[in-house]
Amino acid sequence: MHGLLKSMAQSSSTNAFRRHVWPLFLRDRWLLLGALVLNGVHGVAIALQNVYPKWLFSKVLEPADLTMAQRWIALAWLVGGYLAISLVVRMAAWHAGYRIFTWVRERVVFSLRGQFFRHVNHLCLRFHGEHPSGELFSYLFGTPLNNVMGFFQHTSMSVPGAIITVLTTLGMFWIWDWAIASVLMITSFANVALMLRAREKMQKISSDFQTAEGDISGRVADLLRGNKAVKLYAMEEQVAQDFDREALVIGKKSYERDVLSHIEYMKQEGFGYFCFSALLTACTWRYLGGRHVDLGTVAACLASFAGLNWPIQVIFQAFSLWGNAEASINRIGAVLDTPSTTPDPEGDVATVPSSAEIVFDHVSFAYVPGQPVLSDLSLTIPRGQRVALVGPSGAGKSTLAQLLLRLYDPQSGAVRLGGIDLRKFDASDLRKEFGVVPQDPFIFRTTMRDNVRVARPDANDDAIRRACELANAWEFIAKLPGGLDARVGEGGSSLSGGQRQRLSIARALLAEPECFIFDEATSALDTLSEKLIQDALEKNLGGRTVIFIAHRLATVKNCDRLLVIADGKVAQDGTYDELVGQPGLFRELVHGQSLRE
Ligand SMILES: Nc1ncnc2c1ncn2[C@@H]1O[C@H](COP(=O)(O)OP(=O)(O)O)[C@@H](O)[C@H]1O
Ligand SMILES: [Mg+2]
Repeated sequence: MHGLLKSMAQSSSTNAFRRHVWPLFLRDRWLLLGALVLNGVHGVAIALQNVYPKWLFSKVLEPADLTMAQRWIALAWLVGGYLAISLVVRMAAWHAGYRIFTWVRERVVFSLRGQFFRHVNHLCLRFHGEHPSGELFSYLFGTPLNNVMGFFQHTSMSVPGAIITVLTTLGMFWIWDWAIASVLMITSFANVALMLRAREKMQKISSDFQTAEGDISGRVADLLRGNKAVKLYAMEEQVAQDFDREALVIGKKSYERDVLSHIEYMKQEGFGYFCFSALLTACTWRYLGGRHVDLGTVAACLASFAGLNWPIQVIFQAFSLWGNAEASINRIGAVLDTPSTTPDPEGDVATVPSSAEIVFDHVSFAYVPGQPVLSDLSLTIPRGQRVALVGPSGAGKSTLAQLLLRLYDPQSGAVRLGGIDLRKFDASDLRKEFGVVPQDPFIFRTTMRDNVRVARPDANDDAIRRACELANAWEFIAKLPGGLDARVGEGGSSLSGGQRQRLSIARALLAEPECFIFDEATSALDTLSEKLIQDALEKNLGGRTVIFIAHRLATVKNCDRLLVIADGKVAQDGTYDELVGQPGLFRELVHGQSLRE
């Protein structure tokens, strides 16, 4: 089972890359190609720089028939050429390619971030329940995206140049002498391969040490924490011995780490000298044994051995960077490929009927499989009715409201508006019909004005003020420095719970929706403010459908109808007076509350 999941994840990785990242790069393929070519050109320049000693020998130093003046002129040409290759070809081509690539990269990052943000915002509450916002933020601005882009940066801005440098060097030496060319390539690659292997071993030694150090420091910290007990039981001497033992272990390990690392380093360095000696021997053999090469080529060959070190490393490094990048692409792709559990309909989208009847038809729902919250619940709310949902806390009242807003879909049964299953509507069209005051309203980090007009961004200040007055929010907004222009801190931190609720009520009133849902909207207010708002609401909700999820039962006396939710079902249904008048859950709840108050 585990293996299967793993192989699925692996096969999705190349898919994730092909679907989400590659098309973004393809969009700018010509620019990208230009950047790669420029980087390659810079690679050629590096190869030429490495073999420059050859021309110094053959054009300036060696020829026997040149006068002094001629030698200096030749040198001037050579130096001119060197500077042109270095400054114009190597540096300018490199910078131009770098610039182009960086521009393309930021465009890709921008699109990827936007795509990710939109997708995540669109995803259902189930997804958000499983992935905290901090984690999602890190995807957008943290390590995963940086790993992916780091890989592309490396493969676009270092690898092409490195490959070209190696190939150009090989090509030039091949023309001059195949034997020298072969020995140079073999020794250079072998040298770098061993160097990288040594580096890997050194990293392993160091991480082993860190693990051991973590263990030991945990134990030592424990000895320090137990300081009081040590005194009480006069254990000082014993503890000091324990400490010495641990300190000795860590000292030994630290010695081993450094010595072993150094040995690895020495091995690699020694191997490098053997490679260089081989190269010296090969050069001497080709020079003395028949003048296959001139002195310039020998000098160029020795310079290239050092010069090829970096490009070859770059090529090897691309493979290890791909490891990180692949893991990150997988993580990003997994989120981008997560489907919503409340998908918008494909094909025909139904128009949301205004002022329509709400029906829950044999609805069953669970957040966690096997723990049903609603089971086979049915109810009908005719348009224009004012209904109160009451019941013990945790009964599923807020859940009912979430299903009505299609923040979740029921596992069986259906929720309908005007006879149409909610799954047939576009979710944002549907939600525009409702003005919701949730239990714990979210306040955005912006001005009061923008916070009130979230659902109606074009509302003018008069309308905003009226809504705030009705919600009893104007009195505190007017007192803030700047009034509607006052800014609110992150998460509404500078507002009290009651103020946030009043702001949220103003939001709902301003939107003038077809249907209101108040989910314990006044729970953070004192009874007096609650009564004020309740009266204002009753006068201003017009003939709209209203669902009150009630916290204090006294506030729902005037509702047309009360639904008592318990055990995932509608337990009682009637007016306040009817329900108080008969034995049952509601009477117990009212009784319990009046006793407490
Ligand atoms: N996001 C969630 N994930 C898992 N369980 C939840 C979630 N939200 C609510 N529940 C559980 O569902 C049940 C009903 O919750 P809720 O509808 O909020 O109750 P009420 O609003 O009636 O107090 C409770 O047992 C609650 O713990
Ligand atoms: Mg609730």
